[in-house]
Amino acid sequence: MNKDVYYFTEENSVEAVLSRIVDPKNTRLAEVMRSVIKHLHAIVKEVEPTYVEWEAAIEFLTATGKMCDDRRQEFILLSDVLGVSMLVDAINTRRPSGATENTVLGPFHVSGVPNREHGDTISQDGLGEPLYVYGRVTDPSGKPVAGAIVDTWQASHDGFYDNQKPDEKPEHNLRGIFITDENGAFWYRAVKPSHYGIPNDGPVGKMLEGLGRDNMRPAHIHYIVSAPGYETITTHLFDSKCPFLENDAVFGVKESLITEFEQNDDPEKAASIKMENPFWSVEANFVLSPLS
Ligand code: BEZ
Ligand code: FE
Repeated sequence: MNKDVYYFTEENSVEAVLSRIVDPKNTRLAEVMRSVIKHLHAIVKEVEPTYVEWEAAIEFLTATGKMCDDRRQEFILLSDVLGVSMLVDAINTRRPSGATENTVLGPFHVSGVPNREHGDTISQDGLGEPLYVYGRVTDPSGKPVAGAIVDTWQASHDGFYDNQKPDEKPEHNLRGIFITDENGAFWYRAVKPSHYGIPNDGPVGKMLEGLGRDNMRPAHIHYIVSAPGYETITTHLFDSKCPFLENDAVFGVKESLITEFEQNDDPEKAASIKMENPFWSVEANFVLSPLS
């Protein structure tokens, strides 16, 4: 072993640690950890933490781990508010222009949601302002994608998902899976989603508070849209009138995903789609890029 890095010093700290990785069984792990070590040491050298600050960092990570269970993933929330989730997403979803852009998945998606018929409502409790959602799934040339799976979930009028309030909200409230028809079309009834605060009762919330940062997410509807032969997209539709568009706590907003929610006062149309009048409507179009 090289004598210059045998004993640890402040100056050679990175080389001293890296020199112990000689013959890794997992070469990708070694590549990632070399980078982690390099950047961690750079942070420590830049920040020069006191012992108390180092302990606070350890306590923060410990509390973040303790907050995690089947229903709560505080580490993902941490990744979200640091912009890391969106960066990983951007790197992994470089698509040809014209395809719908991805955004953050978030922690509230569930599997096992019922398949629904076009025109069905996804609101199980009927609370909130009625919203009619209609749209099409196409390829980049505009050709309809029939049989695409449109998996949607959203917060209610009060800003909570059903799985955040399982004692208050019916299971699968404001969730549904739709299959596009021969024109690539789908349509359903929902309620207008509200902006909401991401969970702030854990260490991540405390950190945001300490930084003077907001925990709000602008009003949105989540979608995962997939079809054989196409790249799956995980995305949102954002309400163009929401006042929180510019300071989304998790950096999920992209200009191409901002959509107008229209107000309708049309009793005939409302009756034909089994909506109360007046009602909101939004067009939800998705462009899938073929797998290469
Ligand atoms: C969401 O949109 O459901 C979400 C995304 C990231 C963090 C928390 C919630
Ligand atoms: Fe959400």
